Amino acid sequence: MRGTNLTERRRRNQTPAPHSRVFFAVWPDDASARTLHDVARVTSKTCGGRVMRQDSLHLTLAFVGDIPVTEVTGLARVAGDVLAPPFHLVLDRLGYWRHNRILWAGGESAPLAVLAEMLGTSLRSAGFRLDDRPYVAHMTLLRDATCAGVPVLPNPVVWPVTEFLLVQSRLTPAGARYEAIGRWPLLG
Ligand code: 2AM
Repeated sequence: MRGTNLTERRRRNQTPAPHSRVFFAVWPDDASARTLHDVARVTSKTCGGRVMRQDSLHLTLAFVGDIPVTEVTGLARVAGDVLAPPFHLVLDRLGYWRHNRILWAGGESAPLAVLAEMLGTSLRSAGFRLDDRPYVAHMTLLRDATCAGVPVLPNPVVWPVTEFLLVQSRLTPAGARYEAIGRWPLLG
């Protein structure tokens, strides 16, 4: 340490502020998650790929990404100010993205798009930086899939969306693990 001043020693000892990888999402109820997981398993027989765990199936509303944990309270404040009514979400089709090899379930839902838009706008005005790409509501069922065509969803899957969640994602060798760290009811 001889030759280094106190400021330099402090700088070297500084540990980076802990970060969290977080996003806002809606989660299906148990029955819908089971059905969608079954669809994923069946589809993987033709498309291959990794089947997402049943308890991890979700639709992202806004992906915030890596932020210092000290900023999580700011996210919660924004979420608490979002007022939106509950609605039924209908997933009635499958889609396949060749560029990232994701097989997903989705459906047109105005209330979901409005909720995602409200959240995104509020987060941006609070200073959070979000992806600029247009929002495409999707639930990832398979990763690393290779589908020749787009498989068909046998039946629509419908569930009541009564809350949205703030979720922390931990990347592990076995895939992402999600933990809800906040939830807000949809009322009205
Ligand atoms: P995906 O399933 O298409 O990867 C957690 O990673 C959630 O945030 C997933 O639903 C993921 O979508 C979504 N997400 C959106 N933008 C992302 C980004 N830039 N990086 C990682 N995940 C993103």
